[in-house]
Amino acid sequence: MKDKFYITTPIYYPSGNWHLGTCYTTVICDALARFKRMQGKDVFYLTGTDEHGQKIEKVAESAGITPKEYVDKQVDILKNVWKTLNISYDKFIRTTDKEHEEAVSKIFKKLYDKGDIYKSEYEGWYCVPCESFWTKTQLKDGKCPDCGRDVELTKETSYFFRLSKYRDKLIDLLENNPEFLQPKSRQNEMLNNFLRPGLQDLCVSRSSFKWGIPVPIDKEHVIYVWIDALSNYITALGYLSDDDSKFRKYWPADIHMMGKEIVRFHSIIWPAILMSLDLPLPKKVYGHGWLIMDGGKMSKSKGNIADPIELTRRYGADAIRYFLLREIPFGQDGSYSNRALLTRINADLVNDYGNLVSRTSAMIAQYFDGVMPTKPADVLDEDKELINIAEGLYNKVADYMDALDAPNALNEIWKLFIRANKYIDETMPWVLNKNGDKERLGAVLYNLAEAIRIGSVLLQPYLTETPEKAFKAFSIPDELKTFDSILKFGGIKGGVTVTKAEHVFDRIDIDKELADMDKYIEEQEKAKAEKEVKTENVVKLDEITIEDFAKLDLRVAEVVAAEKVEKADKLLKLTLDLNGATRTVVSGISKWYAPDDLVGASVVVVANLKPVKLRGIESMGMILCAEDDDGNLSIVAPVKKVKSGSKVR
Ligand code: ME8
Ligand code: MG
Repeated sequence: MKDKFYITTPIYYPSGNWHLGTCYTTVICDALARFKRMQGKDVFYLTGTDEHGQKIEKVAESAGITPKEYVDKQVDILKNVWKTLNISYDKFIRTTDKEHEEAVSKIFKKLYDKGDIYKSEYEGWYCVPCESFWTKTQLKDGKCPDCGRDVELTKETSYFFRLSKYRDKLIDLLENNPEFLQPKSRQNEMLNNFLRPGLQDLCVSRSSFKWGIPVPIDKEHVIYVWIDALSNYITALGYLSDDDSKFRKYWPADIHMMGKEIVRFHSIIWPAILMSLDLPLPKKVYGHGWLIMDGGKMSKSKGNIADPIELTRRYGADAIRYFLLREIPFGQDGSYSNRALLTRINADLVNDYGNLVSRTSAMIAQYFDGVMPTKPADVLDEDKELINIAEGLYNKVADYMDALDAPNALNEIWKLFIRANKYIDETMPWVLNKNGDKERLGAVLYNLAEAIRIGSVLLQPYLTETPEKAFKAFSIPDELKTFDSILKFGGIKGGVTVTKAEHVFDRIDIDKELADMDKYIEEQEKAKAEKEVKTENVVKLDEITIEDFAKLDLRVAEVVAAEKVEKADKLLKLTLDLNGATRTVVSGISKWYAPDDLVGASVVVVANLKPVKLRGIESMGMILCAEDDDGNLSIVAPVKKVKSGSKVR
């Protein structure tokens, strides 16, 4: 039977706030999942969305839609991001899934039955964006110590989880199982900042809002969103459901991966819940660093956007994945800039890899009529280093992946490509060709093609589209794309067709491209500003009551005469009939309506508007018109004929 490998990302808040930084966790997990699949493991890769809580309820409300409508839309957007980046998850869980909601309710009841949940008074400060509780002393200058934003004083009767009861066990876990929480710096942080100073019980229900899973024993409360969210790692496998076969197969998780800001929830609260449920703990919790732009954690609210969809559209999923996996030293923060991305693409993907593939395939196409030379009988001294690096590569890369160190894994693979490029410089195939030394020329090109194959096989977990271009150029069959096939040098068969690989990665003119990116950002900002103005116009007026509305005397009127106002090209003077009474109204509509078109038409007039004098004419009211952004104007009129003077309400 295959070994199982269960890997998870956190479930994402459906906030719409997805940028390159947010994709980091998912891309790293994807590379690991693909690597383990290639190693023959039975992989289960879980991701999803964290859809309940006050924060979502608030944004949905301000958008004027229900929370469910809001999250449904966001989930579609997020799934599209993952598709664009070729994320190969095995399951996408939503905390609004019925199976999840039912299981969380049962989990809460189990904790309660165990005596680990009790009811009490709560007073504390709540950070809505982080969905975190704080005591007064934990606040930093009165703000959330995690994100620095405003907190709300919350006073509620709530349910509490006896987190304090598990303090000693948690300390023991972190002190004596160094593998459990990585990197090591996070262990010290958890021990020193949270566990050793003393753990307080955790408030696990809220009653001040509704968008959550009801507490099973008290429907006035909803379950605290972090209890709901953390449980996803087991409910996704069917824990406490009719079919828990996946749970029995995959739990405990091999790796929970996440950004460092939520390590506290995963290495303290989550293990305590599992202990209370008498379940095994995950084998590893890993808190990676952040992708930083301009010094702060990358997020839309700071105005630092790198839209993954736009970047992928420009440079392809592989370039974006490569940048994320390579540029950020694992476990530490890394920084993003447009220039850093483009520089990486040109240096590593275009020069080191793309050129190697196209040059080598082009030389075989040219010097050997597109037929792969046969495996050389002899290995010369100048071949040895290249062959050694290639043969030892799988083990080195696999070790780095076991240590969750993707940047160094990629660095090892690049050592092979860099060595292969040097090999071309040393052997000078064009000179061998000129001298007619076909045998040596064939040997050199064979060795290069084989090095490319081995490197490309190892690249597959990281780059999901490009290795296939190399395989196609050298007609590599599926059985030579596996890890097993690269442990020994010399797998490629002579005689197969070789064609020049085109556009493996296209070179970027960095300055030109940067200017174009700037232009794009400017346009985006302009469009955003315009959209904000529009929504302000539509929704930002104060609400009025029906009594306010009743102050308007709106009437249907018939236009009995219309003429242009002299020396005022915008204005028309209209004579209106309201059930026998006539009155004059001046209206600025002559750009859209000719006087003759209006005679006999029905209009709606604000009949009790205070009269004003316009160009010497007393205007007794105002007729209603609608105008759109494009400057189209239409008089508002009843759809069916009604008597003039009728009230509009
Ligand atoms: O915290 N660099 O979800 P989330 C690197 N719903 N990683 C980043 C990042 C950046 N600039 N910005 C965000 C939540 N991330 C909860 C989790 S789990 C039971 C509940 C990462 O949408 C972040 O660290 O805020 C986390 O791993 C992931 O994006 C989702 O964060
Ligand atoms: Mg977050």
